[in-house]
Amino acid sequence: MTERIQQLLAQVEEFAITDRETLEKFRLAFVAKKGSIPELFEQLKTVPNELKRTVGAELNKLKESAQAKLKLKTEQLEASSEPTADQPQDLTLPGVPYALGSLHPLTQVRNRIVEIFERIGFNLADGPEIEDDWHNFTALNFPPDHPAREMQDTFFLHRQPDVLLRTHTSNVQVRLMRHQKPPIRSIMPGRVYRNEAISARAHCFFHQVEGLYVDENVGFADLKQTLYHFAKELFGKQTKIRFRPSFFPFTEPSAEIDISCGLHEPGVCQLCGGAKNICKGTGWVEIGGSGMVHPNVLAACGIDPERYTGFAFGMGIERITMLKYQIKDLRLFAENDVRFLRQFSQASL
Ligand code: PHE
Repeated sequence: MTERIQQLLAQVEEFAITDRETLEKFRLAFVAKKGSIPELFEQLKTVPNELKRTVGAELNKLKESAQAKLKLKTEQLEASSEPTADQPQDLTLPGVPYALGSLHPLTQVRNRIVEIFERIGFNLADGPEIEDDWHNFTALNFPPDHPAREMQDTFFLHRQPDVLLRTHTSNVQVRLMRHQKPPIRSIMPGRVYRNEAISARAHCFFHQVEGLYVDENVGFADLKQTLYHFAKELFGKQTKIRFRPSFFPFTEPSAEIDISCGLHEPGVCQLCGGAKNICKGTGWVEIGGSGMVHPNVLAACGIDPERYTGFAFGMGIERITMLKYQIKDLRLFAENDVRFLRQFSQASL
């Protein structure tokens, strides 16, 4: 009996457990109910009484050593076990990357414009794209049958009463002034529509950002300083700004806003290079219109023009984006060509 025990002890020690299969074999061979160790315990009954103590002790030692080996190997195998659903094969492998989209360049530039103006105290306002004649034209001092209405190439959805797609974001000025008391200091980005032939320089829809500041003692110098600050923030410190006299029914005086392009030195344009098709060789490009809000507009919106003055400006977001990124064709913005859009995934303004 003792011999058999020693034999088994050696076998237990030598048994190579390398995987779940050999582990199970080991268990069946020695520890399981029908294994050789329980079998020996069975045989213990037949051992003469005086030997029972020593043989029993040896047998227990064998049992303990077999159980200890089984426990240890079970734990080792579990630690290095094969992958299961919630246990990936190799945790150090790099993950599967998600292909993130990016903001449209127009959205990025719009956000940057809003950020610049918000930092100097302008808040964000919004208005409808489907508008009536009064908010788009009449309240803005467009006389009936005035040619300026024709100039705006309006898309009408309905005639008499006229319902149209807004031709500019100036309709939001009107809505703000009607519903808010001065001081008003807002920035209003949005989409506008004009019935124009689509080309590299024009589209039937595009985006503007309108600005309005109405309070006591607002003057043209405030307008200039605000836009000067804006141009430097967006295009860089050396950017210069120029105002050219112009006409809008809703502002008086009115001015076109130009910024110096490319090298920020009038006369040298980096944007169009030798072609000179953007700045036409002048070194200046137009980015929008501006002026002091016409007293008739203030009055139409219920604001006392004797007490309050204000400035307004409207700029094309496509125009600004084209200048900033040297994009030569406006149609690219609406085509959704991912080769174009991908170039802006890392853009930082
Ligand atoms: N609404 C004008 C346009 O679309 C731009 C503008 C806005 C001019 C505000 C002056 C003041 O052309």
